[in-house]
This record gives sequence, C-alpha cells and structure tokens, in this order.
Amino acid sequence: MENLIALVNKLQRACTALGDHGEESALPTLWDSLPSIAVVGGQSSGKSSVLESIVGKDFLPRGSGIVTRRPLVLQLHRIDEGREYAEFMHLPRKKFTDFAAVRKEIADETDRETGRTKQISSVPIHLSIYSPSVVNLTLIDLPGLTKVAVDGQPESVVHDIENMVRTYIEKPNCIILAISPANQDLATSDAIKISREVDPKGERTFGVLTKIDLMDKGTDAVDILEGTAYKLQFPWIGVVNRSQADINKNTDMIAARRREREYFANTPEYKHLAPRMGSEHLGKVLSKHLEQVIKSRIPGLQSLINKTIIEIETELSRLGKPVATDAGGKLYMAMEICRIFDGIFKEHLDGIRSGGEK
Ligand code: GDP
Ligand code: NA
Ligand code: MG
Repeated sequence: MENLIALVNKLQRACTALGDHGEESALPTLWDSLPSIAVVGGQSSGKSSVLESIVGKDFLPRGSGIVTRRPLVLQLHRIDEGREYAEFMHLPRKKFTDFAAVRKEIADETDRETGRTKQISSVPIHLSIYSPSVVNLTLIDLPGLTKVAVDGQPESVVHDIENMVRTYIEKPNCIILAISPANQDLATSDAIKISREVDPKGERTFGVLTKIDLMDKGTDAVDILEGTAYKLQFPWIGVVNRSQADINKNTDMIAARRREREYFANTPEYKHLAPRMGSEHLGKVLSKHLEQVIKSRIPGLQSLINKTIIEIETELSRLGKPVATDAGGKLYMAMEICRIFDGIFKEHLDGIRSGGEK
C-alpha cells in the first residue's frame, strides 16, 4: 500500500514539474484529482506545530503572530535507506541535510516574495523531504485565518487569507486538518467554520484539538474529544505540541512526543482516551485514510489519463506534423508524461487487484 502512496507523490511531483497550474496543459485536472492534506485554523492555533509532529521533524518556522505567510506544499517521500534530506523546488539540485537550514530557507523564501513584512502571498513554496522515517504524504501548511489586519497589512488581508485557504481546502480531494486550540471557545473556531463551509458533511475533515495543556485549571476537553460537545464525522484527536518555551529551549521532537504520550496516559481525565490521542496516532489515522482515498480514486485517475492522451493526440494531429512550435513541444512532453503515468497505473492497478481488500 505504501507503493500506492509513493505513486501519488510521484505523480504530483511530475505534474508540478510540468508547470502544473498553466492553462495549456490538461494536467492541472490530474493534479486537482490527487489527494493532499491541508492544515487550517486561526493564527497561532498550532498548525505548523501539528504538521511538524506528523512529519516527526523540526523544520517549520513557528511562533506567535503571523509566521506562515505563504502556502507550503510539503511532500514526504519514504526512502528505504540512506541519509534523509530535503529539496526545494526553487533550488533544484541543492540537497539540505540540515533541517535548521530548511527552516531558514522557508523563512528567506517567504521574505523574497513578500519582503520582511507581515504581508502574505498565495504563491506556494514547494518542499520535498526524503527520509526512511516518514510515511508518504503530501501536506500543506497555510497562513492562519485572522480577524483584523495588523501593521503594514492591507485591510483586505482578512479576506485574502480566507480566500487563499479556501482555494486549497475546497478541492474535493483535499483532506482537511481543522486545528482548534483547546484554550479558546470552540464556537469561535475559524477552522471549524471554514471547513464546514467547504465540507458540510465532514467527510474529509479531521478535527484536531491543540493546546490541551494550556486550558484553564478546572476545565478539560473531554466533551469535545468524546464528540459530545461538537460531533464530527471522524473522532476528534487531541494533541500537545511544544510550547514557545520548549521551542526556545530547542526541546527535540522525540522528547516532545514522549511527553505528549505521558500527558494523555497520566492525566486522569484523558486516560481512557489515550490510545486515540496524540501526534503519532494522528499520523497513523491520516495515512490510513489517505490510502483508502487513493485506492478508490485510481480507476478514475486512469480514465482521466486515457482521456488526456486522446485529447493531446487530437490536438497534435490538428497542429499537423512536424510540430516545431512551443505549443507542440509542450504537448509532446505532456503526452510522454501521460504515457508514463498510464504505465505506472497499470502496474499499480494489478497490484491492487491481486492484493485485494485488507
Ligand atoms: P500556527 O500559527 O497555527 O502555525 O501555530 P504555531 O505552530 O506556529 O504555534 C504557535 C505558538 O503556539 C507557538 O509558540 C507554539 O509553541 C505554541 N503551541 C502550539 N501548539 C501548542 C500546544 O499544544 N501546547 C502548547 N503549550 N503550546 C503550543
Ligand atoms: Na503563528
Ligand atoms: Mg504556521
């Protein structure tokens, strides 16, 4: 099954490399039909922290205020052996093995687009991480939803962020991690509000409750986590991320995870929920869900590829041969890639059929 997810990662990379969002290629449709996972929520609700702990790696800028100012499209690729590394699409051939340098490059590349301001940009940063210790997933970190413009931001920023977030999460194939902090009233959760809007039945929304450790003394999140306060299609998952003090002290991920596990196991209110709480559990739930989605989509993707091949062939014969123009060159390339996809699909589909249901 891992191969299947690896396949989808390959496809997404190929689509992106091709220049994806351009109009002249039929491949954007393909891109749009592949699953991804996006985090949404209010500013400083813990989105970047949640993504980091799913990845199990420290590499994202985090902190109070508006830190994430451009979408980050992150592809995780599992490799069997070798040292892990990261690669940015805007810096091809440069392999990062130092994840502190990855974080710095995300911050620098954000500034290159927006200046050192609090401005936001909808131009995504593409990052790939290759590691023996990740599951194959595509994750999207997004700027936080906000209620007011702060210094230097145009008044339109509130709606700009909302619209940007919506363009990612309204895609039917986007799995939404709706991040709500436990130390704020759930009724005011921006995450719940916007994900409800794009996914009213909650078929692709996972509710994640952060900052459980920061709740007022005498209050707890049991009602939410048990689904009685606000029911979601999928059970709520509570997490305890690193605090700002932990970040300042450079508390590592392994220590943070151990502490999170202990927190749920040892807090009397949450003990009975412990097996389905925490970042590791969230990671497992997500990859399982993703596998199911991909499995159900492959036949559709395959027919989309076939249709694309036919369309490109028609377009090529309309242009006549030999095609020397730019358009022709691109079409040939798109065609070639479709053929490769088609081959991969056939190979993987056989695997799925013979593998049967688990
Ligand atoms: P984002 O703006 O939604 O991406 O949020 P960040 O991940 O940047 O986190 C914002 C701040 O909240 C950082 O200082 C984090 O350390 C802190 N934080 C996030 N989640 C938790 C949590 O579960 N517990 C505690 N104590 N702090 C958290
Ligand atoms: Na923040
Ligand atoms: Mg962030």
